[in-house]
Amino acid sequence: METFGCQMNEYDSELVRSLLKTQGFGFTDQSDHADVILLNTCAIRENAHNRVYGHLGKLKYHKKERGVVIGVLGCMAQNLKKELLESQPFIDVLVGPDGYRQLPNLLTKAMETQTRGLSVDLSEYETYEQILPERVGGVNAWIAVMRGCDNFCTFCVVPYTRGRERSRDPKGILEEAQGLAKRGYRQITLLGQNVNSFQFEQYDFAKLVTAVADIPGIERVRFMSPHPKDFPPALLDVVAQHPHVASQIHLPLQSGNDRVLDAMGRNYSQADYRRLVDDIRRRGDIPLTTDIICGFCGESDAEYRDTYQLIEEMGYQAAYVFKYSERKNTIAAKKFPDDVPEAIKKERVAELIDLQKSISLQKNRELIGQTVNVLIEGDAKKSSQQWMGHTESNITVVWDKSLQASHPGEFLPVLIEDVSASTLFGRPVQSLPFP
Ligand code: 5AD
Ligand code: SF4
Repeated sequence: METFGCQMNEYDSELVRSLLKTQGFGFTDQSDHADVILLNTCAIRENAHNRVYGHLGKLKYHKKERGVVIGVLGCMAQNLKKELLESQPFIDVLVGPDGYRQLPNLLTKAMETQTRGLSVDLSEYETYEQILPERVGGVNAWIAVMRGCDNFCTFCVVPYTRGRERSRDPKGILEEAQGLAKRGYRQITLLGQNVNSFQFEQYDFAKLVTAVADIPGIERVRFMSPHPKDFPPALLDVVAQHPHVASQIHLPLQSGNDRVLDAMGRNYSQADYRRLVDDIRRRGDIPLTTDIICGFCGESDAEYRDTYQLIEEMGYQAAYVFKYSERKNTIAAKKFPDDVPEAIKKERVAELIDLQKSISLQKNRELIGQTVNVLIEGDAKKSSQQWMGHTESNITVVWDKSLQASHPGEFLPVLIEDVSASTLFGRPVQSLPFP
């Protein structure tokens, strides 16, 4: 099984593994040995689609040579439905994000009787309660606390691929988190397409974050991805004050211009966003990250400049900058022409990435000489001779393993000696200047 897209998709793949294992399926890392190949797909932007199409092309070979069963799961399956089955005749099974309970059955039918199968109905209730995802890693665990999205930002396909918002019963979430703490997980990331609109009867998101962070053994709680419209003071207080909730907020801006924000259906103005950031900053040093879309329908140069200026002013720790990509079925696709030339979109993206790089570098440089508290997660990407972990504000830190015997799951004070725009480099120090 291969997974594309966001953490929610990674989490769903863990759910699918668990569902299939209980039905007697096993897993291999080598596609040459597999009887079934599954792709869990993403539909958020065109390049996500293209990556999946590229991969499907490779799978044709396995189909032709060995007759493997091919299953396409996730957001692209949901968004394209029959169109995908028709255009890619070698796909056997197509299952959207709410249909995974059907998957074992559909795969068995495809294997035994070569029947093609489809499960792309969205549900108002499915939260995969009682299914414990098959997790890997051992340090950070994802828990999806709500699924779907009711915001209908005009650019976004998620409400169509993942359906209506629904929250899980906090009782099940807390039992799952307690079980994870007992198994040694130190960090929990609460996930949802619109995570801070979690609401189960009278139980809201601030209460949920607090309850998870209060579990003995859970040292760090994060959440992804919130919407600026759902940040009540109680939630800001929890982020600012709870010792086990990471002091960091991802606050997607998308655009710094009011006309564009309105056309995007974001339900806040530049002034509302600034007010929220002021509210956050009044509570302390809480680093922010953001998402930006460049070249949304009709975005003029002056409107784009508003975004540029706001990014300059906000001093984000990091910004994820995307080129607007029209998605089938969305409100923007129906209402507005995708009229910003590709070359201009690319120029704007490149300029904002450059701007943010210089801001991130400057912020990281301020950390040189400081000691940060790092949760060790595993080997660094570039070398197994180095450890990699994150600061509370979610910046990657890398250091040589030879400097101190340590293990994943441990918190370590690391003195920062050098930085790039995305990574801090340092060495562990003995004394712990933390409360
Ligand atoms: N085009 C470009 N970027 C998009 N995003 C969502 N939909 C689109 C789209 N159609 C971006 C938003 C969102 C992030 C997850 O992906 O910035 O916050
Ligand atoms: Fe992609 Fe959004 Fe689906 Fe995640 S929820 S896989 S980002 S389309």
